[in-house]
Amino acid sequence: MLRRDLVAALAGFYNGHPDAERFSMLAEVGRHLTDALEGGGLAAPDPVHLPVACLLEEIDLRSGVQGVGPVLRAFAAAGPVLRWVQTPAYRATLSQHYIDNYGYVRVIGRSGLVESSVVSAGLGIWGAGLHYPRHKHPAEETYHVLHGAASFQRGDGPWESKCVGESVHHEPWERHAQLFGDETCVLLWAWTGEVTVDAQLILDGE
Ligand SMILES: [Fe+2]
Repeated sequence: MLRRDLVAALAGFYNGHPDAERFSMLAEVGRHLTDALEGGGLAAPDPVHLPVACLLEEIDLRSGVQGVGPVLRAFAAAGPVLRWVQTPAYRATLSQHYIDNYGYVRVIGRSGLVESSVVSAGLGIWGAGLHYPRHKHPAEETYHVLHGAASFQRGDGPWESKCVGESVHHEPWERHAQLFGDETCVLLWAWTGEVTVDAQLILDGE
């Protein structure tokens, strides 16, 4: 039930979200989540714990921003039974501090609560002050900030600060980086297109 509640919370967030008028990918993700809820297509992958999941126990689950509170509460309630993951290549590259303070769950996608190779979406946590170095991936992406704040850089553009409820959109292969604020940050992310290819860090000079 905890898993289903989280799938339903995400469907509720995306279906009818004002950003779907700008980014049609969000309606696509919402449709896949709704179809799974109505068609009984839910999975129960074995739980995997990561240290970062503990940060979820300390955050304020109330939010005055439309649609955000239900997702945060469903995420926190389901946290202990979710399959927490990290991008495998990051584990070999990023600092131990980063690895100890980051992780995510796929609500829909590969080994998600809903299995899909067409769309992917889920929730990630980054501890205060982390810097997510430049990276890229072939999937189109939209992030929504659900807790805390983060600055985003697209390509060589300016850093833009985003707070709860705000979104950032990345085209396929667009380079991007994030700097997290002084609170635990929870981001909701959605991918469409080439969703089975992991993000890759971009090395200096690339
Ligand atoms: Fe990304």
